[in-house]
Order: sequence, then C-alpha cells, then structure tokens
Amino acid sequence: MQKKLNKHLIKIVTILNDYQYHDGSTLGEKLKITRSAVWKIIKKLQHYGIQMDSVKGKGYALLEPLTLLNAAKIKKNIEHNSIDIHLFESIHSTSDYLKTVNQHKKIVISLAEQQTKGRGRLQREWYSPFGKNIYFSCLYHFHKDVSELAGLSLVVSLAVFNTLKSYGLGDLLRVKWPNDIIYDNKKLSGSLIDVQAETHGVSHVVIGIGINVNMLNEEANISQAWTSMQKILGRSIDRNALCIQLINQLMSHLNKFNAHGFSHFLDEWMESDCLIHQGITLQNLAEKVHGKVAGVSEHGHLLLQLANGTIQTFSSGDAFMVRKV
Ligand code: BTN
Repeated sequence: MQKKLNKHLIKIVTILNDYQYHDGSTLGEKLKITRSAVWKIIKKLQHYGIQMDSVKGKGYALLEPLTLLNAAKIKKNIEHNSIDIHLFESIHSTSDYLKTVNQHKKIVISLAEQQTKGRGRLQREWYSPFGKNIYFSCLYHFHKDVSELAGLSLVVSLAVFNTLKSYGLGDLLRVKWPNDIIYDNKKLSGSLIDVQAETHGVSHVVIGIGINVNMLNEEANISQAWTSMQKILGRSIDRNALCIQLINQLMSHLNKFNAHGFSHFLDEWMESDCLIHQGITLQNLAEKVHGKVAGVSEHGHLLLQLANGTIQTFSSGDAFMVRKV
C-alpha cells in the first residue's frame, strides 16, 4: 500500500510546528475543513507515533519538532536537474516501489516518511518510523555489465559517509565493509543494492539507503546496536537539507564509479574503514572465517589474512556479517 503525502496533514504539521496549542475549530477554518476532518488527521499523526498533547479548551500541540519532507524543495536545491522524486507519506518499501517503476533512462528517487515493510540485508527488517529518518531509494542506470558493479555498495557507503561527515561527526564516524556507516561501533546507516536488469550493456540498479536521523526511541525493535544523528549531535536535523546533500554526494560518486570503477575510490575507502588491520570473524553463507583485515581489493572485495598467512578474498555478495573479535 502506498500513500502520497496528504496536503491537509502537511498544513496541520506546518501550523503545529510552532509548539503552541491550536484548537480544532481554528485549524479547520485555516484549512477550510471540518473539525472532525482535523481530528482525523490528528489521530492519524498519533497513530504514526508522533508525540502530541491535547488539552481541552486549548487544542493540540506537537511535543517534538516535526518538519516533513518536501519533494519540491529537495528538487529545487539539488545539482542534478533531471531527477524525478516520488515522495510518499507511507509505503511498503521505497526500494520495492522503484522495482515497479518502468524507467530505463531517467534517474528516479523515492522517499517516504514511513515504511511498513522496510528491508535490511539478509531479510532483516529496517525499522522505519514516521517522520524520523531518511528512507531513500534511487533507480540508477550504469553503462556497465552487472559483473562490473562489484564495488558499488562501498561507493554508496562512501557517499553517505561524506554526507554525514559534513555534519561534524568527527573520527568516530567510519564506514564498515561492505555497506554500513557506524559511529562509535553503533550503526547509523545501511544500504542495500538490488540489481534489477541488464539490457544492452546497461545495468538498472535500485540503491536503498536508510539513515537514522532524529530517532531517539530506545525501545525501537532493532537487533543491532544503533545510534542516530540527533543522539550524537544533541539537536534535531533538517531531513530536507540532509536529503539534498545526500543526493548531491551520491550522484557525484555514482558518476565517477560509472566512469572509473571502484579502484578510483580505494584510497578514500582505506582512510575511512573501521576494519582495516582488525581481527575479525567473517561469516558468509558457506563458512565462518577468522582473520585480520588486510584491506579491500580494487573490486571492493574484502582481503582477509588468515592464521597461516595467506590472503583470502571475499566478495560483498558472499559476506553477510562481519564482527570484531
Ligand atoms: C542494511 O543495513 O541492512 C540495509 C538497510 C537498507 C534500508 C533502506 S531504507 C530505504 C530502502 N528501502 C528499504 O526497504 N530498504 C532500504
């Protein structure tokens, strides 16, 4: 099920964002809708988990900042002018949605305020509460054979890493092979690549990125240790500005990857990876291997030095968990 952002919901959130109380009748008059229609929107926001106070005689007030995503604002401020942006109030998964978009030339980005079936790697759920984080997917067309896309997930991680670094997150921010961004060993962002099809040497790929932005809820049902930008920086982050930076960084990285492949990013990766020279346990579908990380290859594969001194190579497709020991 997919829902476009409701225009009355956008207006009510915009009015309530001054943290004052607004009563149902006044909100109804401003929006030219009935009090009961206002009440339904307030109920919907509460159902989405937005913290609100309601006081008899005073009305409704937001208890936490909430600025909704704005596709027009994002589109106006990105460097690339021919990208389509599809924004949803709620959707199963922004990546699964893009798989249904029949577009073989144009870049299409989908964003949502909430995902009901957000996907992480290895069939894990990606927790996607309303209005808190970035749930972002991009349909991109590479002039490459699928076999040449090996380092793509690392390049996407570097684009996210550079975006987050510009917020002053410091040295605790690292990339973690193959596609995590961590801060102080807690997950801040993850990405997922779905190769759609290859036609006449062009590979159509859906790149999904989740960033924990303003999520503070300690009870969030997430199996891994996680953090969010707001937890780290102690302030609420403007998700529209973050999306603009993310799109600019991602487009510039994908263009370079299209032209030069992963080897162009090798040094940048080595500088930011938290696993380099670390002892780790790498588990893939077939085996569990212990070793010391010697780096990544020019195809983005992990190089692991085993106890007997030999170097074994693991492709991003094989590995499903890397754990420090
Ligand atoms: C992971 O680290 O496990 C990958 C997480 C990827 C989550 C993003 S959120 C936007 C896009 N839509 C999805 O269903 N998943 C990706």
